[in-house]
Amino acid sequence: MAAVSIAPTDRVFVLTGAGISAESGLPTFRASDGLWAGYRIEDVCTPEALRSNPADVWAFYSARRENAFAAKPNPGHIALAELERKLGGRYFLCTQNVDDLHERAGSERLLHMHGELSKSRCSQQCGAPPVEDRRIYKSLEEVGRCVCGARLRPHIVFFGEIPLEMPRIERELMKSTVMIVIGTSGSVYPAAGFAQQARYAGGRTIYIGPEPPLNASVFTQSVTGNAAEVLPDLFAVQS
Ligand code: OAD
Repeated sequence: MAAVSIAPTDRVFVLTGAGISAESGLPTFRASDGLWAGYRIEDVCTPEALRSNPADVWAFYSARRENAFAAKPNPGHIALAELERKLGGRYFLCTQNVDDLHERAGSERLLHMHGELSKSRCSQQCGAPPVEDRRIYKSLEEVGRCVCGARLRPHIVFFGEIPLEMPRIERELMKSTVMIVIGTSGSVYPAAGFAQQARYAGGRTIYIGPEPPLNASVFTQSVTGNAAEVLPDLFAVQS
């Protein structure tokens, strides 16, 4: 039975994290065997690491590209694309994920606040826009160059950097009446604060995942389970 009812006047803001891609075979970050296991964040995901050890940074993100590009969208990604088709402009998806499984499932109104694995950008921030780059680099020498001549870096938001397109996210947050958060541990800000913001603004806040996130108390409803199993039958869109 559908547990989340969407009224004709509702505007839905969806926030996804690594959990939505778990059943596509991509490991989450904070599971004991997860993505950070075996890596120190500061060695591969900080501006300092990019300056002092770009080879390790690129090796980490090349491996992640390889896994993500081989993965396939699961029924959770597909259910969200279906919800978007029903709601049109009343739907917005903000993902913390850097894989492209949402778009491959058919999502269009989406924003990657932590960047995208399939793009690279100038490591010297010359102002050139990010470029499509799906290459799996075997060595630092192979990494492409920006139009300004500087080496490219992954189009990923590192720790200590500001997430992308925050003003647009804020605008969408303020317009929404229903916040649906899926598969994120609630440990990385600012994303972890979105549900609280929505709740303060009087919206419904719903969490979907197998275990409570760190910010569980801000949700008005929780649905316990794996995204790929729960999402396909979760939404009742009223017309
Ligand atoms: P985490 O690894 O912190 O959390 C993953 C969440 O997914 C956990 O709460 C799990 O309970 C849940 N989960 C696991 N399997 C699931 C399933 N099948 N269905 C639904 N939920 C499931 O990952 P995030 O919260 O996404 O940032 O991490 C946030 C950010 O931290 C990432 O975007 C990344 C990382 O540092 C950057 O790289 C900038």
